[in-house]
Amino acid sequence: MKKILVINGPNLNMLGMREPEIYGSLTLADIQNKILELANQINVKVEFFQSNSEGKIIDKICAAGDFDGIIINAAAYTHTSIGIRDALAAVSVEAIEVHLSNIYRRESFRHHSYISGVCIGQIAGLGVDGYLFALRKLAELPKEKNEKCK
Ligand code: DQA
Repeated sequence: MKKILVINGPNLNMLGMREPEIYGSLTLADIQNKILELANQINVKVEFFQSNSEGKIIDKICAAGDFDGIIINAAAYTHTSIGIRDALAAVSVEAIEVHLSNIYRRESFRHHSYISGVCIGQIAGLGVDGYLFALRKLAELPKEKNEKCK
């Protein structure tokens, strides 16, 4: 069974209360439950990790070599963190970048992602559906592809 790691970055623990007009009313637990529901349907194992700390996210990615894919919403670190980008590049696990909001319709400092260049794709602006689509996509990737650099 494939194992997918779902990483959420800073302030995403505040979802539900945090700027609901931008991020919607679902809490992080609600989002994780929806991901889990789909994972059970398509026979994939998921593990969730949320941290407000850049170093902890980097540590988690560096230890993720056993996973078959990573879904990452690095939140504000998307726009600042070369460290998270380098960690994703180092592990050779396919990753998909997700954002709840459409970062390209927002402030210009959100238009650049350090992470997208080391991901197979980016989904922004589709709310929780972005995570669900990313999960389907990682689940259907041929396993050899994920293991190409291990
Ligand atoms: C976000 C977009 C980022 O610009 C922002 O800093 C976040 C959340 C999103 O999911 O839309 O915290 O990643």
